[in-house]
Formats: sequence, C-alpha cells, structure tokens
Amino acid sequence: MTIESRRWVMASRPGPKMLPSDFELRRFDLPELEAGQVRVRLEAHTLSPGMRAQMAYAIMGTPMHPGDPIPGDGLGVVEASLHSDFTPGERVAGRLGWATHAVCDGGALTKLDPELYGDDLPSETALGALGTNGLTAYVGVFEVGRPKPSETVLVSSAAGSVGYLAGQMATAVGCDVVGIAGSDRKCAELKSRFGFRDTINYRAVDDLAAAIRAMRPEGYDIFFDNVGGRTLDAGVQGLRHFGRAVLCGRLANYSEGEPQVSHGLGPSDRLTLQGFVYNDYPGALPEGRRRIAGWLREGALVQQMSVIQGIEQSAAAFISLFEGAVERPLVRISAA
Ligand SMILES: NC(=O)c1ccc[n+]([C@@H]2O[C@H](COP(=O)([O-])OP(=O)(O)OC[C@H]3O[C@@H](n4cnc5c(N)ncnc54)[C@H](OP(=O)(O)O)[C@@H]3O)[C@@H](O)[C@H]2O)c1
Repeated sequence: MTIESRRWVMASRPGPKMLPSDFELRRFDLPELEAGQVRVRLEAHTLSPGMRAQMAYAIMGTPMHPGDPIPGDGLGVVEASLHSDFTPGERVAGRLGWATHAVCDGGALTKLDPELYGDDLPSETALGALGTNGLTAYVGVFEVGRPKPSETVLVSSAAGSVGYLAGQMATAVGCDVVGIAGSDRKCAELKSRFGFRDTINYRAVDDLAAAIRAMRPEGYDIFFDNVGGRTLDAGVQGLRHFGRAVLCGRLANYSEGEPQVSHGLGPSDRLTLQGFVYNDYPGALPEGRRRIAGWLREGALVQQMSVIQGIEQSAAAFISLFEGAVERPLVRISAA
C-alpha cells in the first residue's frame, strides 16, 4: 500500500527577505520500510531559525539545495517499524522535518520516556523545554555559563524559544536576569510571566550598549547571546571583569551579515567568550532533562509556545518568526 506524505521543501534559495515562494508543500509517496527503519506519523514540528542560514547560505549542517526537504524537530507516533526497539503506537521525537509522515532509521529517533511525561507534562514538551530548545538553554546556562546564585545574567532574543527558557533557568538558581527583546509586549511578558527581573526593548533604544550598561551599571556576569553581530558587541561591553559570554546563536547573521565584536576590549577585561552546540555535551543531557521536568512540575519553569494549526501554515509562520510577529512557534500538523 502506498502511503502519501506532505512535506515542505525549499523551492528556491531565499534572499535577504524570505518569500512564501521560497517554500513549497509537496506530496510524496513514502518508500517501503527497510530493515532498521521506522515510519512515523507526525503530530507537530518546530520552526528553528538556524534553518534559514542552512537554506540561504548552505553553511550550517548539511548544505541545502532547491527541492530538498526542510529539516526540523518533529514529534509523532510510530505507524510501522522494522526496528526492534520500536513498536506501532509509541511516541517518538527526532529530526523528522516539516512533514505529515516520515521514514527514518530507528537510531535517529528518541522514545518519549514515560517517566518524564504525563498528564502534567504533555508530549509536545519534547519539542519545547524537554527538546532541543530546552536542552540548548540548559547546556548554555549550566555547562558554559556556570552561574553562581546572585550573579547577573543578560539574555538576548529573550522572548524566543531558547532565550525564555535560559532566562527562567538562571532565575531558578537564584540569578538576577535581564532580557533583551524586540517589543514592549514581549518585554512585559518576560517580566510578568517568565520571571525576568528587567528587560530592554532593543528596538526602542538608540544605543543598545548604553541601555545595557544603564540597566546594571555594576555589569553582568554572564551574557547568553542568541543574536550575534551588534547585539553581541553591545552585550559583551556590559560584562564585568571575568564575565562570560555564552555564544548560543547568530540570529542577526542569518539575515543581515555580522560585524565583528570590537570596542576596545582587552586583556584586563579577563572575559571568556565560548560558543557551544548543545549535543557536544551528551553527558549533561539526562540530568538536564530530569532537572527541567522538575522545574516544570514545581512551576519554576513555565513553557508557553504559540501553536500554529495546520502544516499548510509552516512556511508563513517561519517568515513571521523572523519579523518578530510570532514567538516560540510549534506547528500542529493537523489543522483540526
Ligand atoms: N548552540 C546550539 O546548540 C543551538 C541549538 C538550537 C538553537 N540555537 C540557536 O539559538 C538561537 C535562538 O533560537 P530560537 O529558536 O530561540 O530563536 P528565536 O529567539 O525564537 O528567534 C526568533 C526571534 O529572533 C529575534 N530576531 C530575529 N532577527 C533578529 C535580529 N536581527 N536581531 C535581534 N533579534 C532578532 C526576533 O525576536 P525579537 O522580536 O525579540 O527581535 C524573533 O522573534 C538561534 O540563533 C538558534 O540558531 C543554538
């Protein structure tokens, strides 16, 4: 029996402004399962901004070409399996793409651990706080930033999928957390809902470095940076002696190109700037998942994603993400 999948592909390489015509939702016949493979019916997928760099410049991960499927984290149910570890009906997560169905090697899938999930932690948490975004925040904060209680932490793109979790995790261990985001609405929500102590709307200030310094004249111990470019430059200038910049992402570079960090920083500043990729730290992830689940259950970590209904909306929502019009998107495959 032939099973049809709908899957978003890159129709053309995006320019500086992404267009709906850069994406196409195509129908495919799924291949027959081979030994070791699993067929998954997706329930949801995430929209990760790094995909834009992979599409536009072919510099991150596997270079993409027109006609290639768009990768992304997905969550779904096993429909058929020729892999001994998986049986139909099980819930799994993995790099399944923006698709209704996927066939992949069982080794590329993670089963949702029943001890972590339950009525209070829905399976979609596997695409949020217990997925790539949460683990990226966890590794960046605890393995790279290594905060001590009462240290001051600055987070850029703080209302985004990684940033709002990184800020909450730092707050959970007693840090004073300041977030940078692109609207007054996002800034208000960071304080009222996600426990950030202060915020800066970078679109409302002429000089971001000055606004960062004015917010904490004594300086910051850690800068968790998702943006790069001018934002990284401004945030690093706010670090105090022995400060640490955690280089998580380069959102500005995905669309705009990136100036270098500068401004007269030198040896006497004693700064550390460290980039990371979260899965460089496999040993930290099981403990990370346990701690994150604990914080979610205690209410120390609040998860809130914007649910987009229907896979037909994926490309439009992805474009909106870069315009700052939708935050922390999660696409549910079915429009129902
Ligand atoms: N290191 C790792 O292992 C790892 C793993 C996963 C993701 N990442 C990276 O982590 C970062 C955050 O990911 P995410 O999914 O949470 O993305 P995100 O922060 O939700 O990204 C979208 C937001 O970025 C902001 N933005 C877009 N262009 C900007 C610009 N030029 N300057 C400043 N802000 C801009 C917008 O919010 P505003 O309205 O606030 O501007 C937009 O809503 C990304 O760079 C991603 O590639 C790293």
